Amino acid sequence: MHARPVLKWAGGKGRLLPELLGRLPSAFGAYHEPFVGGGALFFKLASQERLDDAFFSDINPALIEVYIALRDCVQDVIDILGQHYYDEDYYYEIRALDPATLSLAERAARIIFLNKTCYNGLYRENSSGQFNVPFGRYKNPKICDEPNLRAASSALQRVDLERRHFSTVLDSAQPGDFVYFDPPYQPLSSTSNFTAYSKDGFSEQDQVKLRDVFAELTRRGVRAMLSNSSAPLIYELYSPYAVHTVYAARAINSRAAARGKIAEVIVCNYDENGTLLSD
Ligand SMILES: C[S@@+](CC[C@H](N)C(=O)[O-])C[C@H]1O[C@@H](n2cnc3c(N)ncnc32)[C@H](O)[C@@H]1O
Repeated sequence: MHARPVLKWAGGKGRLLPELLGRLPSAFGAYHEPFVGGGALFFKLASQERLDDAFFSDINPALIEVYIALRDCVQDVIDILGQHYYDEDYYYEIRALDPATLSLAERAARIIFLNKTCYNGLYRENSSGQFNVPFGRYKNPKICDEPNLRAASSALQRVDLERRHFSTVLDSAQPGDFVYFDPPYQPLSSTSNFTAYSKDGFSEQDQVKLRDVFAELTRRGVRAMLSNSSAPLIYELYSPYAVHTVYAARAINSRAAARGKIAEVIVCNYDENGTLLSD
């Protein structure tokens, strides 16, 4: 069985997959995904057996722990998750647990459980780092999808998984490798304040730093693809590269008005023949 993403994640790339798959280089060495989130592209490529070596990371420690637990102790995660059930009081009990008192498998099962039963499947923490999304209303949420957890575990077997900042991709990417960047999107209604943080804690300065990493990879002969919003800053930052404007329906958005198709961009540092572009 082929694995599908285990977690629902804001900015999940399920709907953009055909656009991303159609623009991948035909062959590459190791695969790197430094903003992995739900890992839609990773799981797709793993299911197509297109990955040899893979490095994947994210700044969110709770998220990375879920993947480490699935890779290293999937049976324990399944056993614990099998005991969780859909009930509002129970949800708040599990949400209130202090992760520091739990084992790795218990922490992973807790995050998967909260993700399946919380409002909108969002991950959000308060200022003291506690998960604070309220209970969600579902018909019959599948809390323990055992076949998919096992399939995800086998896709993750040889993957280098770590909590790291995106810039550390420069330490691992080699010429001929491929990097897919899916950062928090630059807000469309941008402020004029250069250091302003978006709601995801990713500032315009971070977007510029990311472009610098993208440029350095290009110089080193590493192919890279990036998705982002269609904010003017993104067109400006990536103007030396191939910037494709695409339209995909949004997965998670609580504002009904914003549910239609909106423009996003996919940037590649190579042309349709796979030839690297320089800045
Ligand atoms: C748009 S989401 C990725 C969605 C993912 N591609 C999917 O299909 O579900 C962006 C991710 O970037 C992570 N992130 C934010 N700032 C980061 C940083 N400085 N370095 C690495 N990851 C970061 C967030 O934790 C989040 O998981």
